[in-house]
Amino acid sequence: MRRVTLLLLAASLFTGCGDDDGASPDSGPADAGVDAAPAPRDLGQERELTVFDYVPEGCSGTVRTPEVVEAGMGGETLGAAPTPDHVHVAIGEEASTTFAVNWHTDLATDVTQILYGLDEDAVDAADGATDEVAVRSGHTLVYETRYETLTDSLDVRIHEVHVCGLEPSTTYYYKVGGPGAWSETFDVATAPVLGSTEPWTFAASGDSRNNTAGVWQLAQRQILEAGADLHVFSGDAVNLSALQTEWDAFFEAREGDFQVQDALARIPFMVSNGNHDNLRVNYLAQFAMPQDISEGEGGQGEEWYSFDYANAHFVVLNDTVEDDATISGPEADWLRADLAAVDRDVTPWVFAVHHRNLYTCMSSHSPSGQLRTAWQPIYDEFAVDVVFQGHNHVYERSRPIRGLTATNEGVVAAEGAGGEPTFEAPGGGSGEPSGTLYFTAAAIGAPLYEVSDACPTTRAAQGVANYLMVDVDDRSITFTARNIETGAVIDELTYSK
Ligand SMILES: [Fe+2]
Repeated sequence: MRRVTLLLLAASLFTGCGDDDGASPDSGPADAGVDAAPAPRDLGQERELTVFDYVPEGCSGTVRTPEVVEAGMGGETLGAAPTPDHVHVAIGEEASTTFAVNWHTDLATDVTQILYGLDEDAVDAADGATDEVAVRSGHTLVYETRYETLTDSLDVRIHEVHVCGLEPSTTYYYKVGGPGAWSETFDVATAPVLGSTEPWTFAASGDSRNNTAGVWQLAQRQILEAGADLHVFSGDAVNLSALQTEWDAFFEAREGDFQVQDALARIPFMVSNGNHDNLRVNYLAQFAMPQDISEGEGGQGEEWYSFDYANAHFVVLNDTVEDDATISGPEADWLRADLAAVDRDVTPWVFAVHHRNLYTCMSSHSPSGQLRTAWQPIYDEFAVDVVFQGHNHVYERSRPIRGLTATNEGVVAAEGAGGEPTFEAPGGGSGEPSGTLYFTAAAIGAPLYEVSDACPTTRAAQGVANYLMVDVDDRSITFTARNIETGAVIDELTYSK
């Protein structure tokens, strides 16, 4: 493990966030609580920033923090409010044998442990390792962010543990914190063995920001009750990523006895960066993501990544970059190499997740010609099945699309009666889809946009709060989009490859 120390002006953390749809520094919620009032700070003062990396016990990959004011392995100190909150789980490495957990405490608490095992009662009763309960330690960090305004700030304490060497398709019980200060006990299931043909289910959503009408927590409850094994999120978790009060509201939303932590601590939640998240330290520090860090260089870190789950390969991309050339340069190179390495006999399904739209009929955010030019040829070359987009706060499904015209417009490919792609293969049964489907399931709290389906590439569209459930059963797939407020099914599609 090592530390790299950087010296930056704290003020550089607070540069403009590139919001393109009406976000205002004054528009953050002011009602979410934190453990303690922030100490006043001169935002122009110099603070040393540090990066910490290590290989968690039993894991093979390196975990690296973003640039923060403090980072290292957990200690033994319990502060005044040491009980973990904001507990949420993610895939850190191989989904069938690992998981990662993040949580938040007061600033003084640096103890960072997880107790886990197969017996819920044993985990519940434990205050340390036992014959039935294992312990792992993780890292903790502190980042400086805005509190409620442009001119105040707050130090935020986050903890992260990675557990490796687990059995596939197995439910583990766990709690996090440290002796005398544990969270409640949660359960999380590892993924089936790679290439498994057993049925499994994931949710796809995006744009929870503002949490209009409290649909974020309604949807989380529905997704938990529907038995989702995984949740992929296309970005824009909050409106102003630098405001910690918004993240507190995101992680603490509740509806009666249900709090979003009940779902987020049980269903791995895999995020992509939206223009409102904007790769802020808040976004990078609060979520664990698979990192590809090779010796001597940083790789792409947490900006974009991929992972496998059962018989599917996911690529999670970042389309809100500091330098536009990244999208057609290093990121496209990475995407091509990543997809070229996929064995479609093992993971016949390939999904991409990112924020902005290659295809959409909405005038609120037009389709991105930049993304089409950079990424669609790669999606086409490797016959990506589905792209889950966000950014437009509607529900929308494209027709199968393959290829671009001279004016950078998509070409509608052969489709079945439901708008599904067709498959041609000698002898039948498998093959490449005629085209890629582009979904926008991006209103899990964000204010709704005007909806239109008057585009040749659009098959279905609805202007309601929504999320998508995707049932994968070997080479069959079913998409079910729901209106969060009524529970009604607003779109459904099944096909096989
Ligand atoms: Fe957006």
